[in-house]
Amino acid sequence: MSAPLADFQQSLAQECLRMLQLHIEIPPVNDQRLIDHVVGADGSEEGFLSGGFLTATGLMSALQLSGRPISSFRRILDFGCGAGRVTHWLRHLADGAELTGTDINSDAIAWCKDNLGAGARFLCNGARPPLPLPDAGMDLIYGISVLTHLDEDLQFEWLRELHRIIAPEGLVVLTVHTGYRAAQALSPQAQASYLKHGFIYQRASAQDKTVAGLPDFYQVAFHSHEYVAREWTRLFEPVLSVAHGPFWAQEAIVLRKRESDATPLRDHGWERVKLPMGGIDTPGFAWQADGNLQHVAGWALAPDSDEPLDLTVWVDGVAAAMRCIEVKRDDVKAAFPHIAHAGNAGFMLNVELPDHDFDHHVIWFTAGGSPVPVSATCIAVS
Ligand SMILES: C[S@@+](CC[C@H](N)C(=O)[O-])C[C@H]1O[C@@H](n2cnc3c(N)ncnc32)[C@H](O)[C@@H]1O
Repeated sequence: MSAPLADFQQSLAQECLRMLQLHIEIPPVNDQRLIDHVVGADGSEEGFLSGGFLTATGLMSALQLSGRPISSFRRILDFGCGAGRVTHWLRHLADGAELTGTDINSDAIAWCKDNLGAGARFLCNGARPPLPLPDAGMDLIYGISVLTHLDEDLQFEWLRELHRIIAPEGLVVLTVHTGYRAAQALSPQAQASYLKHGFIYQRASAQDKTVAGLPDFYQVAFHSHEYVAREWTRLFEPVLSVAHGPFWAQEAIVLRKRESDATPLRDHGWERVKLPMGGIDTPGFAWQADGNLQHVAGWALAPDSDEPLDLTVWVDGVAAAMRCIEVKRDDVKAAFPHIAHAGNAGFMLNVELPDHDFDHHVIWFTAGGSPVPVSATCIAVS
């Protein structure tokens, strides 16, 4: 195990353990629509909690990999925070940070104010800029699955607004749907248009609960890397992107502020991390540990490669075991019928839980050489 990889895991684990120590408990989000907007159809409270934890872990990993751990930011904005699925977890930073969440959905903001108000402030914004925030007033802005829903004009308006409020040395992290998701979701005609222009915005399907009840301008958008390089680099320079893993079918792009209306960057060779998609089924999120040996089972598959995957399972930031993907999984095959090796995408093993002073252990796995967890969960110590 290389020293940088081990160091990365240990500092990420410490941050996650602190996050869990302070904020595992939140009141139930008793408005199913608010859960469906972020978890999808028939989303559960557990999915909301565990998905927020995983996304926060992914965000912290991407920042750490960009050379700026989350603890190095003071003024942080969750742009399009919804019901605070991710904001909630970052309240552990509150002593050293000012956390703000904004959203167009007044019901979501009202819920956040009532339930997450300690440690963060929440604002409702309009469909178009501006936000009621000063120029260069934020050190970190992240928007999880917000530009995945806006048309091209609104996208540019909001990119300019985020550019206005981010500090010169700040970072902006935005998630988008890129090639894999486009290939799955678009009709052949729409896919051809996406490949030609690098961007497409289309009406969500009638069954898509992530947009139900939201304004008509809120549908589904797809971006290509070439498009981001061509169109976003007038305002921002991409530093790093992380596809899949904790961002599931989306890709997170870490951006640095450029001078306004600079010419697009010709050389856009940002570091691109491409992870498998995967999950941990056992243990479920925050299950109680039963002794110091824990059974771990999950799955992982690379969307566009047949190469066998080698995984490393980490407990509290220490490598616990390595595994090849080899266990038969009919459910994964059914969910990914277009991927030939999906039927054997499972893994299972037992790991030892170390003694420590925290209330939880964090368990995740990485794949290949990347330090970014593909999927992560936690287990409670009784
Ligand atoms: C898929 S949800 C994701 C919510 C949250 N980021 C999360 O990961 O749980 C997208 C959110 O973006 C919000 N949104 C869309 N357009 C927005 C805008 N222009 N300004 C602020 N929020 C916006 C929606 O209301 C919704 O809550």
